[in-house]
Amino acid sequence: MSSCLLALESSCDETAAAICTLDGRLIASRIASQIEIHRQYGGVVPEVASRNHILHVRPLVEQVLADANLTLKDITAFAATSGPGLVSSLLIGTSMAKALAVAENKPFIAVNHMEGHLLSPFMNENGPVRSCVALIVSGGHTMLVRVRDVGHYELLGRTRDDAAGEAFDKVAKMIGLPYPGGPEIDKLAHRGDPTAFAFPRSFLDGRSLEFSFSGLKTAVLYELPKLDLKSEQVLTNVCASVQAAIIEVLVEKLVLAAKQCGEKLVTVSGGVSCNRGLRAALTARCAKEGLQLLLAQPDLCTDNAGMIAFAAVQRFNIGHTSPLEADVDPNLSLVS
Ligand code: KG4
Ligand code: ZN
Repeated sequence: MSSCLLALESSCDETAAAICTLDGRLIASRIASQIEIHRQYGGVVPEVASRNHILHVRPLVEQVLADANLTLKDITAFAATSGPGLVSSLLIGTSMAKALAVAENKPFIAVNHMEGHLLSPFMNENGPVRSCVALIVSGGHTMLVRVRDVGHYELLGRTRDDAAGEAFDKVAKMIGLPYPGGPEIDKLAHRGDPTAFAFPRSFLDGRSLEFSFSGLKTAVLYELPKLDLKSEQVLTNVCASVQAAIIEVLVEKLVLAAKQCGEKLVTVSGGVSCNRGLRAALTARCAKEGLQLLLAQPDLCTDNAGMIAFAAVQRFNIGHTSPLEADVDPNLSLVS
Protein backbone atom coordinates (compact mmCIF):
# COMPACT_ATOMS: atom_id res chain seq x y z
CA MET A 1 0.00 0.00 0.00
CA SER A 2 1.39 3.43 -0.96
CA SER A 3 1.42 6.29 1.57
CA CYS A 4 -1.94 7.90 2.31
CA LEU A 5 -3.42 11.13 3.61
CA LEU A 6 -6.70 11.40 5.55
CA ALA A 7 -8.78 14.58 5.14
CA LEU A 8 -11.90 15.99 6.79
CA GLU A 9 -14.43 18.47 5.42
CA SER A 10 -16.89 20.29 7.68
CA SER A 11 -17.15 23.82 6.29
CA CYS A 12 -20.94 23.95 6.01
CA ASP A 13 -23.58 21.25 6.43
CA GLU A 14 -21.82 18.11 5.16
CA THR A 15 -19.46 16.16 7.40
CA ALA A 16 -17.06 14.19 5.23
CA ALA A 17 -13.88 12.12 5.46
CA ALA A 18 -11.68 10.71 2.71
CA ILE A 19 -8.37 8.96 2.17
CA CYS A 20 -6.17 9.69 -0.84
CA THR A 21 -2.84 8.12 -1.78
CA LEU A 22 0.08 10.51 -2.12
CA ASP A 23 -0.02 9.95 -5.87
CA GLY A 24 -3.54 11.39 -5.87
CA ARG A 25 -5.80 8.32 -6.01
CA LEU A 26 -8.96 8.55 -3.89
CA ILE A 27 -9.36 5.23 -2.07
CA ALA A 28 -12.14 5.99 0.41
CA SER A 29 -14.70 8.75 0.72
CA ARG A 30 -17.80 9.13 2.88
CA ILE A 31 -20.26 11.93 3.48
CA ALA A 32 -22.75 12.28 6.32
CA SER A 33 -25.28 14.67 4.79
CA GLN A 34 -27.32 17.00 6.97
CA ILE A 35 -29.59 18.19 4.16
CA GLU A 36 -32.71 16.54 5.60
CA ILE A 37 -32.09 18.16 9.00
CA HIS A 38 -31.67 21.69 7.60
CA ARG A 39 -34.45 21.37 5.02
CA GLN A 40 -37.09 21.94 7.70
CA TYR A 41 -35.55 25.38 8.40
CA GLY A 42 -35.19 26.33 4.70
CA GLY A 43 -31.41 26.72 5.00
CA VAL A 44 -28.36 25.83 7.09
CA VAL A 45 -28.59 26.61 10.82
CA PRO A 46 -24.93 26.98 11.95
CA GLU A 47 -25.47 25.78 15.53
CA VAL A 48 -27.33 22.67 14.36
CA ALA A 49 -24.65 22.01 11.71
CA SER A 50 -21.77 22.09 14.19
CA ARG A 51 -23.56 19.79 16.65
CA ASN A 52 -24.10 17.26 13.89
CA HIS A 53 -20.48 17.53 12.75
CA ILE A 54 -19.47 16.54 16.29
CA LEU A 55 -21.71 13.48 16.14
CA HIS A 56 -20.50 12.33 12.73
CA VAL A 57 -16.82 13.16 12.51
CA ARG A 58 -15.34 10.32 14.54
CA PRO A 59 -17.47 7.51 13.07
CA LEU A 60 -16.60 8.81 9.60
CA VAL A 61 -12.86 8.58 10.32
CA GLU A 62 -13.32 4.99 11.48
CA GLN A 63 -15.45 4.16 8.43
CA VAL A 64 -13.01 5.47 5.80
CA LEU A 65 -10.12 3.68 7.53
CA ALA A 66 -12.16 0.45 7.45
CA ASP A 67 -13.16 1.05 3.81
CA ALA A 68 -9.48 1.44 2.85
CA ASN A 69 -8.42 -1.44 5.11
CA LEU A 70 -5.99 0.86 6.94
CA THR A 71 -5.28 1.93 10.51
CA LEU A 72 -4.26 5.37 11.77
CA LYS A 73 -0.64 4.17 11.77
CA ASP A 74 -0.78 3.88 7.97
CA ILE A 75 -1.67 7.55 7.49
CA THR A 76 1.19 9.89 6.53
CA ALA A 77 -0.58 13.22 7.12
CA PHE A 78 -3.93 14.60 8.31
CA ALA A 79 -5.77 17.46 6.61
CA ALA A 80 -8.94 19.49 7.11
CA THR A 81 -10.78 22.40 5.53
CA SER A 82 -9.82 25.54 7.45
CA GLY A 83 -12.01 28.05 5.52
CA PRO A 84 -13.99 29.65 4.07
CA GLY A 85 -17.16 28.47 5.77
CA LEU A 86 -19.06 28.56 9.05
CA VAL A 87 -16.62 29.05 11.88
CA SER A 88 -18.37 26.67 14.29
CA SER A 89 -18.44 23.99 11.59
CA LEU A 90 -14.84 24.48 10.44
CA LEU A 91 -13.63 24.08 14.02
CA ILE A 92 -14.94 20.51 14.28
CA GLY A 93 -13.05 19.09 11.29
CA THR A 94 -9.83 21.01 11.96
CA SER A 95 -9.82 20.13 15.69
CA MET A 96 -10.25 16.46 14.85
CA ALA A 97 -7.53 16.45 12.17
CA LYS A 98 -5.12 18.32 14.44
CA ALA A 99 -5.84 15.91 17.31
CA LEU A 100 -5.11 12.94 15.04
CA ALA A 101 -1.91 14.60 13.79
CA VAL A 102 -0.72 15.20 17.37
CA ALA A 103 -1.66 11.70 18.54
CA GLU A 104 0.09 10.04 15.59
CA ASN A 105 2.95 12.57 15.46
CA LYS A 106 2.27 13.30 11.79
CA PRO A 107 1.93 16.58 9.85
CA PHE A 108 -1.29 18.62 9.63
CA ILE A 109 -2.37 20.41 6.45
CA ALA A 110 -4.98 23.18 6.46
CA VAL A 111 -6.87 23.25 3.15
CA ASN A 112 -8.76 26.10 1.53
CA HIS A 113 -12.22 24.74 0.64
CA MET A 114 -12.19 26.69 -2.63
CA GLU A 115 -8.87 25.12 -3.61
CA GLY A 116 -10.57 21.75 -3.03
CA HIS A 117 -13.27 22.69 -5.55
CA LEU A 118 -10.74 24.34 -7.90
CA LEU A 119 -8.54 21.24 -8.22
CA SER A 120 -11.37 18.65 -8.22
CA PRO A 121 -11.67 18.47 -12.04
CA PHE A 122 -8.10 17.09 -12.08
CA MET A 123 -8.98 14.07 -9.92
CA ASN A 124 -9.03 10.46 -11.09
CA GLU A 125 -7.85 10.12 -14.68
CA ASN A 126 -7.74 13.89 -15.34
CA GLY A 127 -4.45 14.83 -13.67
CA PRO A 128 -1.93 16.22 -13.32
CA VAL A 129 -2.96 19.73 -12.24
CA ARG A 130 -1.94 22.10 -15.02
CA SER A 131 -2.48 25.55 -16.48
CA CYS A 132 -6.15 26.36 -17.14
CA VAL A 133 -8.94 28.86 -16.69
CA ALA A 134 -11.24 27.60 -13.93
CA LEU A 135 -14.85 28.43 -13.16
CA ILE A 136 -15.95 27.67 -9.60
CA VAL A 137 -19.70 27.76 -9.02
CA SER A 138 -20.84 26.88 -5.53
CA GLY A 139 -23.43 28.02 -3.02
CA GLY A 140 -21.22 30.77 -1.61
CA HIS A 141 -18.89 31.60 -4.51
CA THR A 142 -18.85 32.21 -8.23
CA MET A 143 -15.40 32.96 -9.59
CA LEU A 144 -13.14 32.68 -12.59
CA VAL A 145 -9.55 31.85 -11.74
CA ARG A 146 -6.40 31.69 -13.86
CA VAL A 147 -4.53 28.59 -12.66
CA ARG A 148 -0.83 28.36 -13.53
CA ASP A 149 0.03 25.48 -11.18
CA VAL A 150 -0.79 24.27 -7.65
CA GLY A 151 -0.85 27.38 -5.43
CA HIS A 152 -0.42 29.83 -8.33
CA TYR A 153 -3.84 31.37 -8.80
CA GLU A 154 -5.02 34.73 -10.07
CA LEU A 155 -8.59 35.95 -9.67
CA LEU A 156 -10.08 36.97 -13.02
CA GLY A 157 -13.55 37.81 -11.77
CA ARG A 158 -16.13 37.01 -9.13
CA THR A 159 -19.73 37.80 -8.37
CA ARG A 160 -20.61 41.29 -7.20
CA ASP A 161 -23.64 40.02 -5.29
CA ASP A 162 -25.20 36.53 -5.18
CA ALA A 163 -23.31 33.37 -6.10
CA ALA A 164 -24.84 31.17 -8.83
CA GLY A 165 -25.85 28.52 -6.28
CA GLU A 166 -27.35 31.21 -4.06
CA ALA A 167 -29.39 32.47 -7.05
CA PHE A 168 -30.71 28.93 -7.64
CA ASP A 169 -31.51 28.51 -3.93
CA LYS A 170 -33.18 31.92 -3.47
CA VAL A 171 -35.34 31.62 -6.58
CA ALA A 172 -36.30 28.06 -5.60
CA LYS A 173 -37.40 29.31 -2.16
CA MET A 174 -39.49 32.08 -3.77
CA ILE A 175 -41.36 29.56 -5.93
CA GLY A 176 -41.92 27.16 -3.04
CA LEU A 177 -39.28 24.49 -3.70
CA PRO A 178 -37.39 22.86 -0.82
CA TYR A 179 -33.77 23.57 0.22
CA PRO A 180 -31.31 23.21 -1.46
CA GLY A 181 -33.03 24.67 -4.50
CA GLY A 182 -30.39 24.01 -7.18
CA PRO A 183 -31.03 20.28 -7.57
CA GLU A 184 -34.82 20.88 -7.41
CA ILE A 185 -34.69 23.44 -10.24
CA ASP A 186 -32.41 21.09 -12.20
CA LYS A 187 -34.98 18.29 -11.88
CA LEU A 188 -37.95 20.43 -13.00
CA ALA A 189 -36.12 22.48 -15.66
CA HIS A 190 -35.71 19.69 -18.17
CA ARG A 191 -39.52 19.39 -18.47
CA GLY A 192 -39.99 23.13 -19.05
CA ASP A 193 -39.49 25.67 -21.84
CA PRO A 194 -36.30 27.72 -21.31
CA THR A 195 -37.67 30.50 -23.56
CA ALA A 196 -41.01 30.87 -21.71
CA PHE A 197 -39.75 33.81 -19.62
CA ALA A 198 -37.07 36.26 -20.77
CA PHE A 199 -35.25 36.61 -17.44
CA PRO A 200 -32.26 39.01 -17.50
CA ARG A 201 -28.72 37.88 -18.29
CA SER A 202 -26.33 40.24 -16.61
CA PHE A 203 -23.17 40.44 -18.69
CA LEU A 204 -22.18 43.81 -17.16
CA ASP A 205 -19.94 45.47 -19.74
CA GLY A 206 -19.05 43.16 -22.63
CA ARG A 207 -15.51 42.36 -21.49
CA SER A 208 -16.13 42.06 -17.76
CA LEU A 209 -15.38 38.74 -16.07
CA GLU A 210 -17.47 39.68 -13.04
CA PHE A 211 -20.93 38.26 -12.39
CA SER A 212 -24.17 39.61 -10.97
CA PHE A 213 -27.21 37.46 -10.25
CA SER A 214 -29.28 39.72 -7.99
CA GLY A 215 -31.21 41.20 -10.97
CA LEU A 216 -32.44 37.73 -11.89
CA LYS A 217 -33.80 37.21 -8.39
CA THR A 218 -35.60 40.57 -8.54
CA ALA A 219 -37.04 39.78 -11.99
CA VAL A 220 -38.51 36.52 -10.66
CA LEU A 221 -39.90 38.37 -7.64
CA TYR A 222 -41.75 40.86 -9.92
CA GLU A 223 -43.09 38.00 -12.04
CA LEU A 224 -44.38 36.03 -9.02
CA PRO A 225 -47.82 37.70 -8.57
CA LYS A 226 -48.63 36.88 -12.22
CA LEU A 227 -47.72 33.20 -11.91
CA ASP A 228 -49.92 30.22 -11.20
CA LEU A 229 -47.25 28.03 -9.64
CA LYS A 230 -49.78 25.26 -9.00
CA SER A 231 -49.65 24.68 -12.74
CA GLU A 232 -46.97 22.10 -13.46
CA GLN A 233 -46.28 23.76 -16.84
CA VAL A 234 -45.80 27.23 -15.31
CA LEU A 235 -43.52 25.87 -12.59
CA THR A 236 -41.34 23.88 -14.99
CA ASN A 237 -41.19 26.85 -17.40
CA VAL A 238 -40.01 29.19 -14.62
CA CYS A 239 -37.35 26.64 -13.59
CA ALA A 240 -36.18 26.13 -17.17
CA SER A 241 -36.06 29.88 -17.85
CA VAL A 242 -34.18 30.71 -14.62
CA GLN A 243 -31.71 27.91 -15.24
CA ALA A 244 -31.17 29.03 -18.85
CA ALA A 245 -30.42 32.60 -17.70
CA ILE A 246 -27.83 31.42 -15.16
CA ILE A 247 -26.24 28.91 -17.56
CA GLU A 248 -25.88 31.36 -20.43
CA VAL A 249 -23.93 33.85 -18.32
CA LEU A 250 -21.67 31.16 -16.82
CA VAL A 251 -20.85 29.58 -20.18
CA GLU A 252 -20.25 32.87 -22.01
CA LYS A 253 -18.02 34.31 -19.27
CA LEU A 254 -15.94 31.14 -19.09
CA VAL A 255 -15.38 31.19 -22.87
CA LEU A 256 -14.58 34.92 -22.72
CA ALA A 257 -12.07 34.36 -19.92
CA ALA A 258 -10.35 31.56 -21.86
CA LYS A 259 -10.10 33.79 -24.92
CA GLN A 260 -8.76 36.74 -22.93
CA CYS A 261 -6.10 34.50 -21.36
CA GLY A 262 -5.29 32.63 -24.57
CA GLU A 263 -5.93 29.37 -22.66
CA LYS A 264 -7.24 26.18 -24.30
CA LEU A 265 -8.04 24.19 -21.14
CA VAL A 266 -11.03 25.16 -19.01
CA THR A 267 -12.33 23.48 -15.83
CA VAL A 268 -15.62 23.77 -13.94
CA SER A 269 -16.28 22.74 -10.33
CA GLY A 270 -18.50 23.42 -7.29
CA GLY A 271 -22.03 22.34 -6.42
CA VAL A 272 -23.70 24.09 -9.37
CA SER A 273 -21.47 22.16 -11.80
CA CYS A 274 -23.69 19.12 -11.00
CA ASN A 275 -26.39 20.87 -13.03
CA ARG A 276 -27.17 18.73 -16.06
CA GLY A 277 -28.20 21.69 -18.22
CA LEU A 278 -24.96 23.50 -17.40
CA ARG A 279 -22.84 20.41 -18.16
CA ALA A 280 -24.57 19.92 -21.52
CA ALA A 281 -24.25 23.60 -22.48
CA LEU A 282 -20.57 23.70 -21.48
CA THR A 283 -19.79 20.53 -23.41
CA ALA A 284 -21.46 21.85 -26.59
CA ARG A 285 -20.01 25.35 -26.37
CA CYS A 286 -16.45 24.28 -25.55
CA ALA A 287 -16.46 21.80 -28.47
CA LYS A 288 -17.57 24.62 -30.77
CA GLU A 289 -14.82 26.93 -29.46
CA GLY A 290 -12.10 24.25 -29.63
CA LEU A 291 -11.63 24.36 -25.85
CA GLN A 292 -10.75 21.28 -23.78
CA LEU A 293 -13.24 20.99 -20.89
CA LEU A 294 -12.65 19.19 -17.59
CA LEU A 295 -15.76 18.94 -15.42
CA ALA A 296 -15.59 17.77 -11.82
CA GLN A 297 -17.13 14.29 -11.55
CA PRO A 298 -20.78 14.71 -10.36
CA ASP A 299 -20.16 13.11 -6.93
CA LEU A 300 -17.17 15.45 -6.44
CA CYS A 301 -19.06 18.67 -7.35
CA THR A 302 -20.92 19.24 -4.09
CA ASP A 303 -19.02 19.36 -0.81
CA ASN A 304 -16.96 16.24 -0.11
CA ALA A 305 -13.69 15.33 1.57
CA GLY A 306 -12.24 13.62 -1.51
CA MET A 307 -11.47 16.99 -3.08
CA ILE A 308 -9.98 18.23 0.21
CA ALA A 309 -7.73 15.15 0.41
CA PHE A 310 -6.68 15.64 -3.22
CA ALA A 311 -5.84 19.35 -2.68
CA ALA A 312 -3.95 18.46 0.52
CA VAL A 313 -1.90 15.85 -1.36
CA GLN A 314 -1.00 18.43 -4.04
CA ARG A 315 0.20 20.81 -1.31
CA PHE A 316 1.96 18.12 0.75
CA ASN A 317 3.86 16.90 -2.30
CA ILE A 318 5.39 20.35 -2.81
CA GLY A 319 6.41 20.57 0.85
CA HIS A 320 3.50 22.45 2.39
CA THR A 321 2.34 21.62 5.92
CA SER A 322 0.54 23.85 8.43
CA PRO A 323 1.37 24.74 12.04
CA LEU A 324 -1.01 23.34 14.64
CA GLU A 325 -1.69 26.92 15.75
CA ALA A 326 -3.15 27.68 12.27
CA ASP A 327 -6.63 29.02 12.98
CA VAL A 328 -9.79 28.55 10.96
CA ASP A 329 -10.80 31.53 8.82
CA PRO A 330 -14.46 31.86 7.76
CA ASN A 331 -13.44 34.36 5.05
CA LEU A 332 -10.30 32.61 3.82
CA SER A 333 -9.41 33.82 0.33
CA LEU A 334 -8.14 31.64 -2.51
CA VAL A 335 -5.93 34.38 -3.89
CA SER A 336 -3.81 36.63 -1.71
O1 KG4 B 1 -20.13 23.37 -3.54
P1 KG4 B 1 -21.35 23.24 -2.70
O2 KG4 B 1 -21.80 21.85 -2.32
O3 KG4 B 1 -21.22 24.03 -1.38
C1 KG4 B 1 -20.57 25.27 -1.26
O4 KG4 B 1 -19.33 25.26 -1.15
O5 KG4 B 1 -21.31 26.27 -1.33
O6 KG4 B 1 -22.51 23.97 -3.49
C2 KG4 B 1 -23.82 24.00 -3.01
C3 KG4 B 1 -24.66 24.73 -4.04
C4 KG4 B 1 -26.08 24.98 -3.57
O7 KG4 B 1 -26.41 26.33 -3.84
C5 KG4 B 1 -26.91 24.04 -4.42
O8 KG4 B 1 -28.22 24.49 -4.67
C6 KG4 B 1 -26.08 23.99 -5.70
O9 KG4 B 1 -24.75 23.96 -5.24
N1 KG4 B 1 -26.38 22.81 -6.50
C7 KG4 B 1 -26.95 22.86 -7.72
C8 KG4 B 1 -27.11 21.51 -8.13
N2 KG4 B 1 -26.63 20.70 -7.15
C9 KG4 B 1 -26.18 21.51 -6.15
N3 KG4 B 1 -27.32 23.90 -8.47
C10 KG4 B 1 -27.88 23.64 -9.68
N4 KG4 B 1 -28.09 22.38 -10.13
C11 KG4 B 1 -27.72 21.29 -9.41
N5 KG4 B 1 -27.93 20.07 -9.85
ZN1 ZN C 1 -18.23 23.86 -1.46
